[in-house]
Amino acid sequence: MFSEHQPVAAFERRVTLAITGASGVQYGLRLLQCLLELNTQVLLMVSKAAQVVIATETDLRLPGSPDAMEAFLSEHFNARDGQLKVYGREQWMAPVASGSGAPSAMVVCPCSTGTLSAIASGASNNLIERAADVALKERRQLLLVPREAPYSEIHLEHMLKLTRMGVVVVPASPGFYQRPQSVEDMVDFIVARLLSQLGFEQSLLPRWGEAML
Ligand SMILES: Cc1cc2nc3c(=O)[nH]c(=O)nc-3n(C[C@H](O)[C@H](O)[C@H](O)COP(=O)(O)O)c2cc1C
Repeated sequence: MFSEHQPVAAFERRVTLAITGASGVQYGLRLLQCLLELNTQVLLMVSKAAQVVIATETDLRLPGSPDAMEAFLSEHFNARDGQLKVYGREQWMAPVASGSGAPSAMVVCPCSTGTLSAIASGASNNLIERAADVALKERRQLLLVPREAPYSEIHLEHMLKLTRMGVVVVPASPGFYQRPQSVEDMVDFIVARLLSQLGFEQSLLPRWGEAML
């Protein structure tokens, strides 16, 4: 039944990635690039607000429709045939909408406080929220990268609640001990953490205790 949604054997892993409308879309785009370079099939969702933030924070002009976005990003990141799948906000037949079709790991990067709230309450009002709800109900790996400053008690409560359910919250707060030389270095700090959480050997950042400068 799900044959068209099965991972193509050529790809070693499958990961769901949602980019939502918090500042720091560079984290999500860089993670997408790294996952594709790591021979991973990526099932991608980009919220409407994220499209606004991408246009604000980067030079990318993403097309609105999922098919056009898939073609655009596949070319932009040099993805292989079938490696990147983009799904729209009400594409309920997408593999990520069901435990039987969804990958074993999902990352929301960056994660807006709105999507954080929807995930914490199980709202499932769009495909991103539904995919996260599936990850929770199936007890699969779910990583959230929230960005807001300061956090309200509501944000902190949502993060605590989700952490207690096994979600890993990786705040978009890069360290400085590696003396970043560029914004890209700071972005890579967080992306390296995410790749490690997902179980990939990453070479973006030396491990603590290895030569850092
Ligand atoms: C340029 C820009 C930056 C934003 N930055 C943040 C942010 O850092 N954190 C956040 O939670 N929301 C931020 N927002 C607001 C969210 O985009 C908004 O709450 C939206 O409804 C989130 O929708 P989504 O979760 O479906 O992406 C920003 C919006 C814009 C346009």
